Amino acid sequence: MAHRSSNRQRSLWVVSLLDVQPTDRVLEVGFGPGVAIAELARRATRGRVYGVDHSDVMVRQAGKRNAAAIRVRRVELLHASVDRLPPFDEPLDAVLAVNSLGFWPDPARHLKELRRVLRPGGRIALVSQPRCPGATADTTARAGRELHDLLTGAGFVAARMETLPLTPPVACVLATKPADG
Ligand SMILES: C[S@@+](CC[C@H](N)C(=O)[O-])C[C@H]1O[C@@H](n2cnc3c(N)ncnc32)[C@H](O)[C@@H]1O
Repeated sequence: MAHRSSNRQRSLWVVSLLDVQPTDRVLEVGFGPGVAIAELARRATRGRVYGVDHSDVMVRQAGKRNAAAIRVRRVELLHASVDRLPPFDEPLDAVLAVNSLGFWPDPARHLKELRRVLRPGGRIALVSQPRCPGATADTTARAGRELHDLLTGAGFVAARMETLPLTPPVACVLATKPADG
């Protein structure tokens, strides 16, 4: 998965859109081989990067890729499903999920839970690059609209969509937890 160059490109792209700051505490759900985790750790130099993934194969692979950052406790990777998030000692600044939400058991409910673990004003980014046969720019646009609706339905505000022109294009929908919670 990590060797597919478009996967790598879209992971680096979404992290750049999230505008991660050095002290940020960030969670990635469904980190796969851990490419975005590595980029988050490169940016959040004084913060903390958490990841949850329900595949032990992915936890091992991402663990190898991020071994140095894990050793110094800048990164913590957990073998868990999005429907059983670990407790976080402090609210998070940002959350992301790249081509993962489509596998979640109950996305609407899990997005509300992700809103709960964010601080007021915290950011979320959901990414979809449709991998179904024959996917086109229309498929991506539809996926982006679905992510937008899910985010607003879960109480996020200021949702906006960005597109990365790969084949097929990648949609990233960014949104914010309201300042009043
Ligand atoms: C298509 S892969 C994407 C991996 C990575 N984000 C990327 O873009 O390369 C989907 C990932 O989501 C994880 N995943 C699927 N369902 C999950 C769940 N319920 N909770 C946590 N992770 C999940 C899978 O194990 C897998 O690593």
